[in-house]
Amino acid sequence: MKIEKHDDTREFWDSIASDWHTQVGLDGDVNRRLNSDPVLWEFAGDVNGLTVLDAGCGTGYLSLKLAEKGAIVTGVDFSPKMIQIATENSKSAGQDISFLVDSCSNLKSIKDNHFDLIVCNYVLMDLPDLKGAISSFYRILKEKAVAVLIFSHPAFPQGKSTKIGSRKQVSYQWDFSYFEQRRCTDPPWAHFKNDFIWFHRPLSDYWKVFKSAGFEVTEFEEPRLTLPNKDTMIDPEKLNNCQTRPYSVAFKLNKQ
Ligand SMILES: C[S@@+](CC[C@H](N)C(=O)[O-])C[C@H]1O[C@@H](n2cnc3c(N)ncnc32)[C@H](O)[C@@H]1O
Repeated sequence: MKIEKHDDTREFWDSIASDWHTQVGLDGDVNRRLNSDPVLWEFAGDVNGLTVLDAGCGTGYLSLKLAEKGAIVTGVDFSPKMIQIATENSKSAGQDISFLVDSCSNLKSIKDNHFDLIVCNYVLMDLPDLKGAISSFYRILKEKAVAVLIFSHPAFPQGKSTKIGSRKQVSYQWDFSYFEQRRCTDPPWAHFKNDFIWFHRPLSDYWKVFKSAGFEVTEFEEPRLTLPNKDTMIDPEKLNNCQTRPYSVAFKLNKQ
C-alpha cells in the first residue's frame, strides 16, 4: 500500500504538545533514559562545539541536553506548539538554542551542507514522507557528517502489544502484513487523550531509503537495558520489558 501525505499528522502533534511535555519532561521518559539515550550518546560521540540539528525536536529535552554538552543546537519541529514549549524550556534553562517551525520533509529553512550532526529521536515512524526527510537530512549535512536516528522498532509495535496474564509474556498482534507499508492509529496510552497516528514500514525499507539517499550505515543497535540502574525507581513489568524486548532501533549513518 502506498503511503500518502497526511496533513492531519501536524494537527495531531500540535494538539498533544502539552501532554508530550508531561511525557518526556526535561529529562526524557523511562524508555529514553534507560534504553535509547545511552545508545544515542554513544553513536553521537563528543558533541562539544558541533553544529547539531535536533530534527523533530518536540518539546526539546534532547536539544537542551545537547546544548548542555556544548553543541550549537538548532531544533526543528513542524508543530508550532511543540516549538513554543521548547523555546520556553530553553529560555528557563538559560540555553541559547535556535528553534524553528519547519517540516523534516524538506527543511526549507536550513541551507545545504550546514550541520556536523543530525539527531532524530522517535520521529521517522511518525513521518508519511520518509524519503523526503532522509534526502533533506543528506542535503543539510556537511560531507562525512553523521546522522543518528532512533525510531520505534517496527517489529515490536508497543501499541499492538498485549500482556498475557501475570506471566512475563507479551503478544504482538499483526492484523496486516509486516511487509506492507501503511498508516496506523493506536488508541491513547498513559495520560494522552488522542489516538496516535504513525506509519508502519518494515525495517528493510528504512535501510533501503537510507542507502538510496547516499548514506553509509555505520552502526545499528536495538537498544536494551543491560545493567539495571539501581537508583531508578521503575515498575518491575517495565524493567522486564526493557531487558527482554526492544522498543526501538538506532542507526548511525555517514554522509559519503
Ligand atoms: C514522538 S515525538 C518525539 C519528539 C522528540 N524528538 C522527543 O524525543 O521527545 C515526534 C515529534 O516529531 C514531530 N514531527 C512529526 N512529523 C514531523 C515532520 N514532518 N516534520 C517535523 N516534525 C515532525 C512531532 O511534532 C513530534 O514533536
